[in-house]
Amino acid sequence: MCGIIGVTGAPDPMQVLLDALALLEYRGYDSAGVALVNKASLWRKRDALRGHSLDTLRAAAGEAPSGMTAGVGHTRWATHGAAVERNAHPHCDCSGAVAIVHNGIIENYQELWDKLKAEGHTRSSETDSEVVAHMLEREIATGAGLAEALRRCVGELRGDFALAAVSTSEPEVIAAARRTSPLIVGLVDGTGLVASDIAALLGTTRTLFQLADDEIAEVRPGSISVVGLDGHAHELEPLEVAWDIVAARRDGYDDFMSKEIHEQPRALRDTLMGRLHADGSSELEELSLTDAELDEIDRVVFVGCGSAYYACLSGRIALEHWARVPAEVEIASEFRYRDALLSERTLVVAVSQSGETVDTLHALREAKRSGARTIALTNVVDSLLAREADGVLYTRAGPEIGVASTKSHATQIAMLQLFALHLARRRGTLAIDDYRAIAKGLLELPGLVEQAIGQMEVYLELARRLAEVQDVYFLGRGIGYPVALEGALKLKELAYVRAEAYPAGELKHGPIALIDERAVVVAVATRGHLWDKVMANIAEVKARGATVVALCTQHDQATEAVADHVLEIPEVAELLSPVVAIVPLQALAYGVARVRGNDVDRPRNLAKVVTVE
Ligand code: F6R
Repeated sequence: MCGIIGVTGAPDPMQVLLDALALLEYRGYDSAGVALVNKASLWRKRDALRGHSLDTLRAAAGEAPSGMTAGVGHTRWATHGAAVERNAHPHCDCSGAVAIVHNGIIENYQELWDKLKAEGHTRSSETDSEVVAHMLEREIATGAGLAEALRRCVGELRGDFALAAVSTSEPEVIAAARRTSPLIVGLVDGTGLVASDIAALLGTTRTLFQLADDEIAEVRPGSISVVGLDGHAHELEPLEVAWDIVAARRDGYDDFMSKEIHEQPRALRDTLMGRLHADGSSELEELSLTDAELDEIDRVVFVGCGSAYYACLSGRIALEHWARVPAEVEIASEFRYRDALLSERTLVVAVSQSGETVDTLHALREAKRSGARTIALTNVVDSLLAREADGVLYTRAGPEIGVASTKSHATQIAMLQLFALHLARRRGTLAIDDYRAIAKGLLELPGLVEQAIGQMEVYLELARRLAEVQDVYFLGRGIGYPVALEGALKLKELAYVRAEAYPAGELKHGPIALIDERAVVVAVATRGHLWDKVMANIAEVKARGATVVALCTQHDQATEAVADHVLEIPEVAELLSPVVAIVPLQALAYGVARVRGNDVDRPRNLAKVVTVE
């Protein structure tokens, strides 16, 4: 997704922009650009060669005139207008004196553009973003400073956005503003910085501040001032940063995805550490809801997108089973428009690795508007979701750079299970022995995931054998169904293979018509109370000639006997099994993708953080 960086007061502003854009690359982009200003001129370079735009910018660095004082940079993920150079940011006004970068969507851009056109402005892109450059030009012409000009513009904009602008009229200033989309400002040794993502500023500064909705910042070398839409001064909100740049490197792995799969035991240990004790007691320090408030909850609604949504499906099963609280799961982009019936006794748990996914953020806001209590379950400290929810459950997966969710998905499930156990204990819905057994099982998960990762070569060997596969059907029942969904998503997004997941019992209600000898069926057949049902479903697809890969408990000869191939995992309690069972499916998708030569860290058409609808 798009990334923003701005710098003023640095000895070599171009280098700062390039370094930050490289750190933002992981969000996914299809074009990139920079603009630098001084009193006399504005220099801009853009490129739309997907995956290579930053190389083009680096090669052009020498062309930038010397003595430039401030600049902005951007990585774009196309929404309005094709991924071509003229649509890449920064966008300029008619005179070429103002440059802006923008994340998000300006919903009323057409209306604004019609007005600008009538005033004689001409546009040079198909983007919604460009209107802001022309609006700034108009305001600066009336004598307004850059930040004041931006303040006036923001009042006219509808939609979600983060904006940063530079102008030759005030060449030491970056003006920045946001609504919903995140934007951070900071200072280090006199250099002023603006960024859409903490990752862009890792290693540079720890004095960071988060802009609030509809705040406008004027960033100068050595100073930052902020006003609201009404022009009154606001205090800056300091931002807590928990990550280190070292953690964001590949550590000798071929790619971030492989590193992040291998980091899962550590990520799970860190997530559970200090929260769940061997005696079965738990502490969820950032939850912020009092015990009395928790006890009043009579319904839980989980919301999330993609893999986060699948984690919710696993979490719901644990919550209902252990804590006996009615629970639902909904895709955030559907929930936000559904006019859901919620009360102050409903708890909405919004799950998002990034804490920035716009649909999940809006779902949380919708829940708050309806009077529900809210919890953000996220991996990013101080993310928008964390700030807006009543309480937070942080996973401690560390930065996840690969676009496909791996360690964040695993830790989301473990955190949801811990939360379910926490509620169960408060409500006394489990016998003490059961409670302790679950707690012990949760604490053993990192070791079991490590054992599964120990089988990586075996999993990858099967992936290599299946690399030419065309259609894959994933089947699962009960707790195995979310695992099947996640396995299919991984295969789709990384290997670009058609992959669908079905609850195995649904097969005979339609999907079985697709099964013939060309089909590969991956059945989640670990031991649990529905194991024999899954075996019956395996028999159905085998009878139609499909090749069956059984994801099963190790040394399970009965399952192995009916499958063409097996992916074994260590024995694990049924409701805790998803975190272990996803490992071979991550490996399968990774292995097939590698054989096909795909970029596993940056799959096509995908972005790490989805900040547009
Ligand atoms: C899949 C994947 C996505 C994300 C989804 C939500 O591998 O990564 O499906 O899970 O975009 O992202 P977050 O968790 O940041 O809200």
